Amino acid sequence: MKTVSQSVPRAPGALPLLGHLWPLWRDPLAFVTGLRATGELVRVDIGTMPIYFVTSAELANDVMVRRARSFEKGRLYDRMRPALGSGLATAPTEVHRRHRRLMQPMFHHAKVAQYAETLTEHAQGLADSLEPGRTVPLLEVTTEYSIGTLMATMFSISTDAGRHAAEVVQRRMPVMFKYMLLRPLMPKLLDRLPIPANRAFDAANAEISAVVYEVISAARAQGDHDEPNLLSMLLAARDADTGEALTDEEVHNELMTLFVAGVDTVAAILSWAFHEIATHPEVEERLLEEIDTVVGGPSSARAVSFEDIPKLEYTRQVIDETMRLHAVTMLMRRTVEPVEIGGATVPAGAEFGISLYGIHRDPGVFEDPTRFDPDRWLPERRRDLPREAYLLFGAGARKCIGDTVALTQLVITLATVLRTRRLRPVPGKAPAEAVSAMPQPVGLSMTVEARSS
Ligand code: HEM
Repeated sequence: MKTVSQSVPRAPGALPLLGHLWPLWRDPLAFVTGLRATGELVRVDIGTMPIYFVTSAELANDVMVRRARSFEKGRLYDRMRPALGSGLATAPTEVHRRHRRLMQPMFHHAKVAQYAETLTEHAQGLADSLEPGRTVPLLEVTTEYSIGTLMATMFSISTDAGRHAAEVVQRRMPVMFKYMLLRPLMPKLLDRLPIPANRAFDAANAEISAVVYEVISAARAQGDHDEPNLLSMLLAARDADTGEALTDEEVHNELMTLFVAGVDTVAAILSWAFHEIATHPEVEERLLEEIDTVVGGPSSARAVSFEDIPKLEYTRQVIDETMRLHAVTMLMRRTVEPVEIGGATVPAGAEFGISLYGIHRDPGVFEDPTRFDPDRWLPERRRDLPREAYLLFGAGARKCIGDTVALTQLVITLATVLRTRRLRPVPGKAPAEAVSAMPQPVGLSMTVEARSS
């Protein structure tokens, strides 16, 4: 077996001391997508720190599934932990295993069916708020919407503590998101500097954290954990072996993690979906036809139901294709022991990068990969794709726990909004892709039209 230094090629364009910081800073998405040209496992230097990028779905599955025992979560998550605590996304392996087992049932299909009504109500609220004739900043609208919807599935927003928390999270979460991804990439010692970015992040984080504790105390005091929301289930959950419940701090960390994992992602995909639909008239036409057939046209008073979801097949294809083209920018892992991978032995402590964005644009797997083509996800064409190539929610033990919630919410939202509204692009204003957990469509404004029956 070759050693890592002999066999892992380095991406071109490194500068002394800076490594690949310049091309990464200039156009990160193009840089990570272009790494494939160098190989399946490619070394990238962030300053003097090497990160080993896997560029194929097969190697990504090696890291996340087949050799998962040799990896832990790595730097990105270490650096988020002081702010978020040890929730599922950031927890070390042992804590993760216990909490995941405890929380998995809360995200099962049958449980998600219980929140479907809440999801529909919020989607209808979004449709009603989109006044015909107005031009709206779409990402702001979908972010506010996904914060509100996730909160309503998490805890009761009709109590005083719930109402207060909802108001604070709605106001402060966008500030936290703004700095969330920047911090892990900065040297650790910069965290404590009283620069505006740190002050804004710390203040927003502290305020949200305080109201989340308030909501937990109120729910515990109320003692009624029967209401079907995530908080009541977290409070009622018991470890199958020890019978232990989660502490307030653990519940807090999980709620904070769900906010961070479940808001930005859904908001970005929804915004991109509306943009892609509006700029592909043939897709829009088929989609509206399906929604009208399954749910009823603009004059139908019936709300989209959980039972409609399997029938909204093309809607789901549009969502999958939007998620493929605008996939999660990057996941990270770190080796806990020497690992043989991609023809090399990589030592313990090596940081790995997995760009789902780059992998889902691999022309060897997805023909004409930059084309928006929802028919790639037709059952007969999907069968031809390698099973491992569908990584939109990650894979293995750390795969997204919220995938069913997210897909349910996305289908319900598209069907509910598009039943009565069309969103039109503003001419000459194509959105730019800004790097965040998911690429964000910055500058995306769309004009609302009412659909006539
Ligand atoms: C379109 C929307 C979403 C996308 C694309 C997405 C994507 C992902 C991906 C790729 C991971 C794997 C991270 C890794 O391996 O390092 C992940 C993890 C996670 N996601 Fe999602 N997610 C979405 C929505 C949600 C929602 C709505 C929730 C919560 C309600 C959620 C909660 C989580 C949590 C808690 C984890 C950590 C799981 C663990 O490590 O056990 N996500 N997500």
